[in-house]
Amino acid sequence: MPSNIPGVQQAWRAVGRGTPSEALRFETNVPVPRELGEGEVLVKIHAASISQAGWKIMRWMPWIFIQRPYTPEFDFAGVVVDHNNTHFSVGDKVFGTDDNLPTSSLHQGTLAQYIRIPASKVLPLPSDTTPSQASGIPGSALTAYRGLFEVGGLEAGQSVFINGGSSSVGIFAIQLAKAKGCRVVASASGKNEELVRSLGADDFIDYTLAPLSQTLSSNPQYPKFNLILDAVGLVDPSLYTSCEAYLAPNGIFVSTGPQPQVWGEVLTVFKLFWNVSMRPTWLGGVRRKWTFYSTGLKPEVLETITQLVSDGKVKPIVDSVYPFEDVVNAYEHLMTYRAGGKVIVMVDREAN
Ligand SMILES: NC(=O)c1ccc[n+]([C@@H]2O[C@H](COP(=O)([O-])OP(=O)(O)OC[C@H]3O[C@@H](n4cnc5c(N)ncnc54)[C@H](OP(=O)(O)O)[C@@H]3O)[C@@H](O)[C@H]2O)c1
Repeated sequence: MPSNIPGVQQAWRAVGRGTPSEALRFETNVPVPRELGEGEVLVKIHAASISQAGWKIMRWMPWIFIQRPYTPEFDFAGVVVDHNNTHFSVGDKVFGTDDNLPTSSLHQGTLAQYIRIPASKVLPLPSDTTPSQASGIPGSALTAYRGLFEVGGLEAGQSVFINGGSSSVGIFAIQLAKAKGCRVVASASGKNEELVRSLGADDFIDYTLAPLSQTLSSNPQYPKFNLILDAVGLVDPSLYTSCEAYLAPNGIFVSTGPQPQVWGEVLTVFKLFWNVSMRPTWLGGVRRKWTFYSTGLKPEVLETITQLVSDGKVKPIVDSVYPFEDVVNAYEHLMTYRAGGKVIVMVDREAN
């Protein structure tokens, strides 16, 4: 093991259940995981992105599933400091993700200076990409890819409606669908129209002007969409319940997962599940498939995405960059649901 690796590091630790401002503590004496298992590398983290899942786990996940204290978050970019006889070399600039991080026995995540991680979950930085850009790629891009192609079955030449074209997932979904040769219509509020169109969307809908189901029903799509990817996680069922007007008969409605933000929305989620799973068509049930999914790391998919980024076909979009000390404010911003791209934390201020 290289001798210049310190014994302790700075890291954010979730010490209790609550919002980030309630649950997080900045610690300066967290052990660096210097003892590596076979096939693992040690990465010094330059930048980490934060996620909706990150704060939701912090806020809601019971002790039985995740023991505190742990370091939150999954995605990072940095430099290999111990290659441990893997195919990497010390000094390689890399990025990656580990969907097991906070729940693993190490209780580690990426809001820390060092991470011990299997080399299979790490890739060289895409060409012409900064650590802050690269750290925002894995989780959102993998979610977009899975929703479009693995769950949604979208094929070249088909047509997709992406609800939430300026969300981190939606931003990748637009670009991945265009790279595949699909027609893309996407929604956001008017302030994000330029962003959504710049990503390649063929058409844009401002969802604040009228209910989407109404706009789409009164402007028939020819041909109808093959896929609706809800990259917001709507709890309101109306985009689905009206979709026979704009989703092809063998099309599919795929959601990143309806998540109530306030207690009052829990009833709306039950209404959605009644409509998608129980309501028979003779009682007005919808003759279209609805499903939701959770993402996961497939190294070969992340390689495909990395190649598309290196080729300039997919651009990572950064909404904002916060210093390592300012993680709580970074989460406060993310939790407004108004970010237009990834919210990044610069763990190493010297790195970019
Ligand atoms: N299933 C999984 O494994 C998985 C993985 C990742 C994320 N997710 C979920 O996917 C959702 C999106 O995550 P994210 O990280 O991409 O979120 P995000 O980047 O924080 O989303 C913020 C964006 O959403 C847009 N937005 C908010 N409400 C909207 C609405 N009603 N219609 C259209 N656009 C809207 C906002 O645009 P405007 O300001 O223009 O409204 C803003 O640009 C979250 O619910 C998250 O939990 C699930």
